[in-house]
Formats: sequence, structure tokens, C-alpha cells
Amino acid sequence: MDVTAQPRMTSGEGPIPAPVRRAEPTIWRNPHRRDAASVLAASAFSEADMRGAEARWRRFAPLLAALFDGTDEGRIDSPLLPVGPDLARTLRGGAPGSVWVKADHDLPVTGCIKARGGVYEVLAYAETLAGAAGLLRPGLSYAAFASGPFRELFARHTIAVGSTGNLGFSVGVMGRALGFQVEVHMSHDAKAWKKQRLRELGARVVEHPGDYGLAVATARDAFRDRADAHFVDDEDSVDLFLGYAAAALDLQRQLASAGIAVDGAHPLFVYLPCGVGGAPGGVAFGLTLLFGDAVRPVFVEPVAAPCMLVQLAAGLDRPVSVYEAGLDNRTAADGLAVASASLLVARTVGPLIDAVVTVPDADLFHWLKALWTGAGMRLEPSAASGFAALSRFLAAGMPAEAGSATHVVWTTGGAHLPDAEFAAALAQA
Ligand SMILES: Cc1ncc(COP(=O)(O)O)c(C=O)c1O
Repeated sequence: MDVTAQPRMTSGEGPIPAPVRRAEPTIWRNPHRRDAASVLAASAFSEADMRGAEARWRRFAPLLAALFDGTDEGRIDSPLLPVGPDLARTLRGGAPGSVWVKADHDLPVTGCIKARGGVYEVLAYAETLAGAAGLLRPGLSYAAFASGPFRELFARHTIAVGSTGNLGFSVGVMGRALGFQVEVHMSHDAKAWKKQRLRELGARVVEHPGDYGLAVATARDAFRDRADAHFVDDEDSVDLFLGYAAAALDLQRQLASAGIAVDGAHPLFVYLPCGVGGAPGGVAFGLTLLFGDAVRPVFVEPVAAPCMLVQLAAGLDRPVSVYEAGLDNRTAADGLAVASASLLVARTVGPLIDAVVTVPDADLFHWLKALWTGAGMRLEPSAASGFAALSRFLAAGMPAEAGSATHVVWTTGGAHLPDAEFAAALAQA
């Protein structure tokens, strides 16, 4: 496969560009991008919200450290890894700039970026319940959340979620560890092994014949008036969004300790695989709070499921799905198989996105194998999409200021892939 072939480049040529409708790889420079200061000034969310989320993560650090192996003193974060010279050369094809990997494929506890939102929202709900029950004494160590009275309280409550797999797992792991009942509604394209590992945790898995959007909508309706339950709404949750946003503080710390400058003269391009948009949207929002216009979020979507591109191109007045653009939402990137983007995210983050790059499934398998053989990284197809996008972006001569840029590819999942699944993915390259 010729991964350096020039993709089509479009912006503002009509609501949904023709190559996107034809499921051709496309680089869409966002014609609606605006300056960070004006977008942030009008936003419903602020830096205080992101720092509030970080403070909650810190309150729960003793609990996370006690419950799970591999957290750095209760911090659910991943390393920022340099890409070796050979791989960097292949990726950049001679283009300048440095390439790093934000290794969420190896995130402690779940091996997936969705933990940043899903675990966070379970903790937020647990804290709310504990507060209402009078269990939060001053000076309490949150390690107590795993103990008797807390668990008895949580066991009387259900947490439900609709998911393509990884959000459900994140909610399932955290929810079950605290003793909640957990119910995960999954789409037809959710992988069997992802359903199985949820059942092994003691979660109830409800399978839907339709797509992810239908699974979410059905679960939302079922839990609408349940006082004893909480629905984690992947399409519309502020807690998920802020949990993801706090990741920006982790990356900021790591960039500083690696001596990487981010400013007007040194832009930071971040390649973020996008499903419904919550994870990439939250991260992009948090990074913009910290770095302003110097951060250039590039969202990455499968050619068959470019829901964020379609939504942003068509405008934010009403939901627009990839089906309306004549696409079928069928992709090997199960985590990105989403037909309609979150409107909350599209409206909050849309004007901050620099570009959306769409990639064919063949690219995902190509890069999945390249990252395994070249760097020993075990990625799932969704998580390899950032490399496919970076390679196409640079091959097309993007960005103009590449010489001084840092590129961060966010690898969003994969370490927990079963051997047979991983071998099958490698065989498709
Ligand atoms: C591995 C992986 N990467 C990226 C994403 C995208 O996250 P979001 O759906 O919040 O856009 C998902 C979603 O499940 C995922 O599983």
C-alpha cells in the first residue's frame, strides 16, 4: 500500500465535500476555526472546571492506588514517548518536526483513553452519592470508598452506559470495583471479546442489533427516571468531557519535562482518534485552555464514519449523521464506528479544531503493524489511526510551519487486546 499517496485536501467547498461522501481519504482544514481566546470566552466551560476535575482525580488517588496495580501513586496517566528515528523518518517522509506518542494504549487500569472519562464519571457519581449519604467526613482518605459502608451504598445503585466497548469497560472496571451494579448497552459492531471481559467483571451486557447511537439512545430512555441509577451519556456528559480535559495537564507536565516549547513559533499538532468526540474533544479543549492558539488539534476518523467532519461541515444547528452523507459507518476501527457526533462536543470544540483527517481501514492495519514491528506498541485499529493521519497530513505538505512543530500522536487503546485479536489484526496488514 502506498501510504504516502496524496490525499484530497478540502475546505469550505460546500457543506460536505464530495470526496468525503465518496469515502475517500480527505484532509479537511476546518474553515470554521476561530481564535482560542474568543471561543474560550464564550464557552460554558473554563479552566476552573478543568482544574476542578484534576482536583477530583487527586482526591481519589489514594483509592485508585489501593485498588489497581500500575497507577503512578493513583494517577491514571501514560508516558509521552519519543518516536525512534527510523519510524519517524517513515512517518515524516522527510518533513521536519519531532514526533511523540502519548501512550494511552497502555493507560493503567483499562489500556484505553476512555478511562479518563469513564473512570472519572464513576468517581464523580460515587462522590455525589457518598456526600448525600453523609459519608464524607472532613479529612477522610478516599481509600475508604472501597470499604464497607460505601460499598453497601453503591451496591444499591446501578450505573448504565451505551458503548462501542471501551467506555463500557472503563465504567465497568471502576463501577464493579466500588460495588455498583453495572449495565452496558452495546452496538452490533462491539467486539465479542469486549463483551466477554465485561461479563467477567460482573457487568450486565445488553446487546443491540443496531449501531452505537441506537444503543446509547435505548439505554438513555431506560434509565431516564431511575433515582437509583446513573446513566453515563457518551453523547452528552459534562463529567466525561472534563475527565478527558484533565489529560491536558498531564501532557503539559510531560512536554515541560522533555524541554518541548509550545508557543506561537512552536505549534503543537495533536492527532486524536475521534468516535463520538468526547475523548478528543475534551483533550483538545483542555490543551487549548493551556496553550491557546499554539495547539492545533487534528481529529482522525475512518472514511466510513467521519461523524465530526460531517457535523462541522454541515453546521451546528441540527444533528447530521454520516448516513445522510451516504456513508455506511462500517469500519474495523470499532471504537470510532459512530454515525453521529456529540453535539455538546461539536459546539464546544468545533471552532478549535484545526483539521479532520479521514483514513481508510487499510491504513489502520498498515500502521498497527508498523508500530508493532518498529516500536513494540500494541495498538487496536482505532488507535493506529493517528499515525495514518500524521503520515497523510505531512505527505500533503501540512502544516506550513512544520519545521518548528511538535507532533503528538495519541494512541488511544490496545494494550489489553487478546493475543488472537492482535494476531488477526496484524495479519490484515
Ligand atoms: C480506542 C479508542 N480510541 C478513540 C476513541 C474515541 O473516543 P470518543 O468516542 O470519545 O470520540 C474510542 C472510543 O470508544 C476508542 O475506543
